[in-house]
Amino acid sequence: MQIFKEKEALKRTLNTLRSEGNIIGLVPTMGALHEGHFSLVKEALRSSDQVVVSIFVNPTQFDNPEDLDKYPRTLEKDLELLKKAHEDLIIFTPNAVELYGERVTSEHFNFEGLEKVMEGRFRNGHFDGVGTVIKLLFSIIEPHKAFFGEKDYQQLQIIRKLTERQQLPVEIIGCPILREDSGLARSSRNERLSKVHREKAAFIYQTLLKTREMFGTKSAEYVTRWVENQFQNYPFLKLEYFEIANTKTLKKINRKRKGNQYRAFIAAYADDIRLIDNMPLNN
Ligand code: PAF
Repeated sequence: MQIFKEKEALKRTLNTLRSEGNIIGLVPTMGALHEGHFSLVKEALRSSDQVVVSIFVNPTQFDNPEDLDKYPRTLEKDLELLKKAHEDLIIFTPNAVELYGERVTSEHFNFEGLEKVMEGRFRNGHFDGVGTVIKLLFSIIEPHKAFFGEKDYQQLQIIRKLTERQQLPVEIIGCPILREDSGLARSSRNERLSKVHREKAAFIYQTLLKTREMFGTKSAEYVTRWVENQFQNYPFLKLEYFEIANTKTLKKINRKRKGNQYRAFIAAYADDIRLIDNMPLNN
């Protein structure tokens, strides 16, 4: 395993590998690695010759400074786990100045409205921060492929839009959500949940399953009201939003149309920990 903190040294190594015809796969992360990340690494290893994992807690995507402070940082442990996962990985762990230069700020993007709904309504500037860091990482690493989890489905669609609009020569690959035994979507934030809340948060998954079942026969409006009601009667979680949206445009739907694909999206708080999840409703 090779670990790089400096982008120029990393670029030199990757240029050599690229010139020898190797396919470079990138798994961008903010560390605090869990099984969900390793499923991305596994997928990347399957379809690339050289996998790069970046570990960088990106300050510009946090709208809440407290959330940034509390974000788990477990670099030593992450490196140990990555070494066990595969001995030939390349790891990139820059600091903010190395990645951004002296001005650690976001670029402003137009993602054609994808950034304005759901997470975008509640996390001001979040997707500009994500777009900025991903564009920087792509410009340094120049991967052929990049791997992202479907748990952050809106982020995945926004990164697809970023590469399309900026004509970046990289294939974006979405990987399925990995879940704990209870059904709770795996997330670095789960480590911060109390034992009780970790158990109770499985309610999100159970509600999504029920949503999928109901969506077959009931309207989006009916299902949405039903979900909001369920959360009102469940004291362990506070619902921030529930939406049924078109999979491509992420626009909330009023009426189902034949041939369209839909997903349900949830954001909820367990104590002060914000959890998100989503599920396809038709295939
Ligand atoms: O999903 C994440 O962990 C982050 O948003 C990402 C894609 C690594 C960008 O910082």
